[in-house]
Amino acid sequence: MSTKTSGLRCAALIAFLACMLACGGGSNTTVNTPPPTPQTLRQAATAHGINVGAAADSQYLSDSGYAMVLGTEYSQLQAENEMKFGIIHPGVSTYDFTGGDALVAFAQSHTMAVRGHTLVWHNEVPTWVTSGGYTAPQLSTILQDHITNVMQHYAGKVYGWDVVNEAFNDDGTLRDTIWYDQPGIGFAGLGTEYIEQTFHWAHAADPSAKLYYNDYNAEPLDAKSDAIYAMAKDFKTRGVPLDGIGFQLHIDLTFDNPATLASLTSNFQRFAALGLELHITELDIRLQDSSSASLAAQAKLYGEIAAICVQQPSCKVFQTWGFTDKYSWIPGAFPGWGWALPFDANYQKKPAYTSILNAL
Ligand code: XIL
Repeated sequence: MSTKTSGLRCAALIAFLACMLACGGGSNTTVNTPPPTPQTLRQAATAHGINVGAAADSQYLSDSGYAMVLGTEYSQLQAENEMKFGIIHPGVSTYDFTGGDALVAFAQSHTMAVRGHTLVWHNEVPTWVTSGGYTAPQLSTILQDHITNVMQHYAGKVYGWDVVNEAFNDDGTLRDTIWYDQPGIGFAGLGTEYIEQTFHWAHAADPSAKLYYNDYNAEPLDAKSDAIYAMAKDFKTRGVPLDGIGFQLHIDLTFDNPATLASLTSNFQRFAALGLELHITELDIRLQDSSSASLAAQAKLYGEIAAICVQQPSCKVFQTWGFTDKYSWIPGAFPGWGWALPFDANYQKKPAYTSILNAL
């Protein structure tokens, strides 16, 4: 036997023994090939049972770059505006499902899930409601009819809804709104009872829909998240149909510190322990410039938040508020800020995209 042949045999033996160890003691005789590297966010997220979503608007679907990225990279969409009361129910007995239906059709043709947003909110309530001079019993009827009609229109097409959005103040007290106490739907001064009522209406309207409470500034442990937690615990204890919590996460780079990220993780953990799903619903990380240092810092924070979701089994949705800087709400809502999303205004992937993909 030549030295070369003997060397090859030796190498083969070493490779065989290494495989025996790696393959679990020889019980598995097939050679494991590594899974293919995910090419899109949706491929990566699917492996963790996470829907990776983006808020979308039907007016942009005719922009081919927009449609291409939305339909290939994401497994979920949510109407940024077109399922809100003011747009979908603009007159006493007028519903306009045009925009929402277009989004649902797009989602269906791209095998995407649709998350509904939102049924009960203090903002974007049409003037026919706010200026109608309605009594509490009348508002109660209006809201129940609204919830029922919208949810039944989308039954089987929208898997779950932000039933109530932003009902708490940052100090944990309930926000004064037309639905709570101005004049409210009949539960003014009774804390979360009006919220409970709307969840019961929503469950009756579409018993198969998942029902969520959604809010902002409640991501770390704080007065607002404590109040939402108390409500959620009470609802779960008494069988109110609440399936999960949406955490908006409209943030900036100050969120990137160990204490805040640890607090977010702990907050997720306590809600998960109640048996609730956790959805990251409106994530965007606004910047004041697009320098490479800012984009790198943004990418780091996107990756850290995606990793927290991946590591928490109850985190089922990782969604950003839009996906391209071309159509972000940030410059309008936060003057001087922008560049908040994973794709730039020309649909090019930013460092944030790569960091989310790697984390997922
Ligand atoms: C925002 C939209 O992005 C804007 O286009 C619109 O003008 C105002 O509403 N929290 C929510 C979202 O729950 O519905 C809001 O969306 C952003 C803050």
